[in-house]
Amino acid sequence: MVPKGGLLCVACFGGRKRIMGEAKDKIDDGVFASVHSTVFKESESLEGKCVKIEGYDFNGGVNYQQLLSSMLTTGFQASNLAEAIQVVNQMLDWRLADEPITEDCNDHERDLDYRKSVKCKVFLGFTSNLISSGVRDTVRYLVQHHMVDVIVTTTGGIEEDLIKCLAPTYKGDFSLPGAYLRSKGLNRIGNLLVPNDNYCRFEDWIIPIFDQMLVEQNNENVLWTPSKLIARLGKEINNESSYLYWAYKNNIPVFCPGLTDGSLGDMLYFHSFRNPGLIVDIVQDIRAMNGEAVHASPRKTGMIILGGGLPKHHICNANMMRNGADYAVFINTAQEYDGSDSGARPDEAVSWGKIRGSAKTVKVHCDATIAFPLLVAETFASSAKPHH
Ligand SMILES: *[C@@H]1O[C@H](CO)[C@@H](O)[C@H](O)[C@H]1NC(C)=O
Repeated sequence: MVPKGGLLCVACFGGRKRIMGEAKDKIDDGVFASVHSTVFKESESLEGKCVKIEGYDFNGGVNYQQLLSSMLTTGFQASNLAEAIQVVNQMLDWRLADEPITEDCNDHERDLDYRKSVKCKVFLGFTSNLISSGVRDTVRYLVQHHMVDVIVTTTGGIEEDLIKCLAPTYKGDFSLPGAYLRSKGLNRIGNLLVPNDNYCRFEDWIIPIFDQMLVEQNNENVLWTPSKLIARLGKEINNESSYLYWAYKNNIPVFCPGLTDGSLGDMLYFHSFRNPGLIVDIVQDIRAMNGEAVHASPRKTGMIILGGGLPKHHICNANMMRNGADYAVFINTAQEYDGSDSGARPDEAVSWGKIRGSAKTVKVHCDATIAFPLLVAETFASSAKPHH
């Protein structure tokens, strides 16, 4: 059998022969020369300008580190993942000391030790399904070691972390029939299964906390916001496997402007009948979230966003308030042809001023359950020094 590559070469060669043969018989020399130069237009040399495509050689044994570094020269999304690793490492390595001192700097801002201590502010966004998956443990590692500064997620990204501390999520299958699962009281998230009982336990756990929060609102004038409520839940869960526990411990704000869109919303709904009056203010939180971007200077800002929807847009929109982020890595499988923000490449955000024109950006078209642990292995975890 002729291998695919071989076949292609044979076809090319055949075509060349055909043109040459016809030229002898029918086409005059001038026409031949012009056809020939059209087909075989001389190339601009790429030598030294572009990396050469080359994959991993398993004859050298299985070396995961080298396998990962070979991705850059493999092409397609392997190369994009490798570029995302480079951008995140640039994010982590940046120091104010790398920048020239500007005229308007005061004495403090000119101090070299100070300039060496100023790092990029990292915004991490992810969708709920990733917390249902094992990516939760990668996120927990980053938050535990204070390697990221601001988090945005959806409601599921909050409750799934807490519920896992009360009862486990299991691996199922994408093809399990909905009606069958319903009859068994099992909920499906892709190929994961969450028993209904988990949500009952969640209700038993959270309602007394809401009762106490209502008391504090009425007696101590506490005005709750989604991020304050989330920090309180992180404190109450008091479990080191929870990323929300570490976010509370390390004072990392977790924003969730769509807080009512999930089981947490169901709980707030039920609570509003049993013990009405709890107020959760989103306006204070948009001030806090945009403030994270507006007051980031003189730090640079970087965005790492897994999946699309609200977390992606909320982080980009906040960075618009500071004229755009300096680094952006998107990992998702959404496409841009329907005009969704989820599918938009970083360049669309540049047009809005959400990412700077000079920024380093990459979109990795890949399921984040595959790409993100690999990215963290080659960035945050391999530098293994806390971000602060
Ligand atoms: C903490 O959470 C984990 C799962 O994330 C769970 O297995 C463990 O039982 C929890 N610990 C306590 C003390 O509840």
